[in-house]
Amino acid sequence: MPDKKSFDRDSISNTLTVAIGLSLICSVLVASAAIVLKPKQLKNQEEYRQRIILEVAGLMQPGGDITALFSGIQAEFVTLANGDSAEIYLQKKGGELQQIILPISGPGLWSTMRGYLSVAPDGNTVKGVRFFEHGETPGLGDQIDKADWRDLWVGKHLYDGDNSPRIEVVRGFVLRDASNTDAIYQIDGLSGATLTGNGVTKLVRHWIGPQGFGPYLESLK
Ligand SMILES: Cc1cc2nc3c(=O)[nH]c(=O)nc-3n(C[C@H](O)[C@H](O)[C@H](O)COP(=O)(O)O)c2cc1C
Repeated sequence: MPDKKSFDRDSISNTLTVAIGLSLICSVLVASAAIVLKPKQLKNQEEYRQRIILEVAGLMQPGGDITALFSGIQAEFVTLANGDSAEIYLQKKGGELQQIILPISGPGLWSTMRGYLSVAPDGNTVKGVRFFEHGETPGLGDQIDKADWRDLWVGKHLYDGDNSPRIEVVRGFVLRDASNTDAIYQIDGLSGATLTGNGVTKLVRHWIGPQGFGPYLESLK
């Protein structure tokens, strides 16, 4: 029989040794997994970003090879009024510009909303919009993600005749009537989420304005 005094498995030192040993093994396993998975995570993040850009450009095909499809998109840097540079994306066909995809972001009700806006080569007509990151409430503000609402943007004009940012998410429904000459700038509101809609109006107007991509879009006209 082993001497109980020489080996007490419930002793403080044994408990500490087991706890520290287990912690070390687990931390090595977690750290190794993080290192091994990092390149895969970065690749997935990049693919997700590319997929969103393809979606806003209307170029994503179900089951399509994202890398191959994205090869038709060209990145370009634009210097903003504050000196920062922003990456935009151009889709060309046979050397001819088809659309410009601009990153947009700004505050909603609860969160910073991030997305992309696609503009036709006239620098004025919307080709698509897509928010891919936000913390707005499910069922309320998160309607900005819904395809039906995004489709309402297609064909709308960003600027009025004076070249001022005019696009607007209205409260309620756009008056679909010949008397409403502003309908070309208006998008139906998000029911129960007027504040998120106001945030979208504000951030889009900022990014197409003089502090954002306004001067760049102007140069296309
Ligand atoms: C829990 C909770 C979450 C809400 N989330 C949002 C939201 O994500 N976006 C939003 O605009 N309004 C949200 N609201 C509602 C706003 O407080 C506000 O009532 C609403 O924007 C007004 O829009 P309406 O005029 O279309 O009703 C939320 C309200 C509550 C109580």
